[in-house]
Amino acid sequence: MLTVYGSVQVLEQEKLFEMLLQRLKSCLESQEQPLIGLSGGSTPKAFYQWAIQQATLRPELAQKGYWGVSDERRVPLDSEESNLGNAKRLFLEPLAVPSSLHLPFEADLEPPVATSHFIKAWQERFPAKDGFDLCFLGMGEDAHIASLFPGSPLLQEDEGTKALGAQASFASIEVPGKGWRFSLTPLGLRACKEIIVIVCGASKAKALQSVFTEPYLPNHRPAQILRACAPFTTWLLDAAAASELQL
Ligand code: 6PG
Repeated sequence: MLTVYGSVQVLEQEKLFEMLLQRLKSCLESQEQPLIGLSGGSTPKAFYQWAIQQATLRPELAQKGYWGVSDERRVPLDSEESNLGNAKRLFLEPLAVPSSLHLPFEADLEPPVATSHFIKAWQERFPAKDGFDLCFLGMGEDAHIASLFPGSPLLQEDEGTKALGAQASFASIEVPGKGWRFSLTPLGLRACKEIIVIVCGASKAKALQSVFTEPYLPNHRPAQILRACAPFTTWLLDAAAASELQL
């Protein structure tokens, strides 16, 4: 099914993970030094454990890529809250991907400083790329993606967001009740080559229905910002998450 937000597939979880792994492998095989953006939250952890158990992703293939995250919390890598930290522990270390290929934010610095360091290092290492070659995203029950939450200034993309550095692919933002976050901006999402949004569970069904059927209001339904990325965005849903959609 094609929507204005990308192509949609509804799969049971094992098939969904197989599809994810396949897309990851083809990205790693088809490019010299692909930039992979992993997502955060709980869904990816299940995928990492499944993928390592499958043992079909060769470490030497994983070691071709650079590995970052669509968004990060301002916590040390050894925190259970760290998106890259979880990817490291559950996925990158079992694949012996050296930390020189990980793209962390320096959470100990002031967030705007950490963001400018991240962007500077990115531009020095990957001058021809403003986004990930393959970016995984999850979606929250409030239709947020990455750390673009409803009402986020980063969603406004007007003159005001220049001060937030949102004209770059990444920005840091203080999220009410969640603390500081680092996140891909809408500009950064548009600069990606391929985006895969993985949404599982009945708790996401209402938000998904509103994203796909309600008027375009990304300030209320941030996942709708992916309208501009539709040609290279795939939504992988399980049946529970898709239960409110007339597919
Ligand atoms: C984060 C994520 C966030 C996540 C969604 C879905 O740092 O929390 O990047 O955007 O992808 O909240 O999370 P679940 O997979 O846990 O539902």
